[in-house]
Amino acid sequence: MKLLKEYIIEHGVVLSEHALDVSLFLNEQVDVPLMQAIGKNFAEYYKEYDFDGFITVESSGIAPSVFASLYANKPLVVLKKRPVLLESDKFIQQECTSFTKQNSYFLTTQVKLVANKRLILLDDFLAEGNVVISTEILLNKVNSTLVSTGIAISKDFQQGYQKLKSLNKSLYRLVGIKKLTPSTNKIDFSD
Ligand code: G4P
Repeated sequence: MKLLKEYIIEHGVVLSEHALDVSLFLNEQVDVPLMQAIGKNFAEYYKEYDFDGFITVESSGIAPSVFASLYANKPLVVLKKRPVLLESDKFIQQECTSFTKQNSYFLTTQVKLVANKRLILLDDFLAEGNVVISTEILLNKVNSTLVSTGIAISKDFQQGYQKLKSLNKSLYRLVGIKKLTPSTNKIDFSD
């Protein structure tokens, strides 16, 4: 996606070989017209897919997903990150570990919101792919299917991209990054 690539080139800061700071437009200051364009792109890409709605994870995935939901006219479910297991069968949970943030949490939602559905996951970053894998496990527990995953920025050099490809998972990414060089703030894109 040309527009997102331009934002990354203009405002992205390479923090390390693994991390790109996008706080000026994606996760601290949120550029709403850009979120709208991202959401519209997702909605158009998934137009012909057979699915019931979108699913995302709090918090940075929410902004672009809201617009995808609006343009596709499909509901959006936001998975919460909870620190503990809940003692209620109204909720469904799946543990997830973040390599980037070095923490673990439970992806959590109400069973009635996600049971027996075909859902598309949308998220801001793909790093190790743990959110995707954990979301699919969570959905499978309630007889639902992860139809595809739409990612705004895929760090293709990290494990997630390769893992999902090798597992033959449906994946759509707006921008792929193949290398980050902190010393020169250089960002090499995959295509
Ligand atoms: P994975 O799902 O692909 O395995 O990724 P991982 O757990 O390692 O990291 C996911 C979290 O880290 C997400 O935030 C994601 O936005 C953030 N993240 C990953 N790589 C980068 C990066 O290069 N730059 C920035 N700015 N963030 C990155 P989260 O835990 O979902 O929190 P939130 O920010 O959405 O609230």
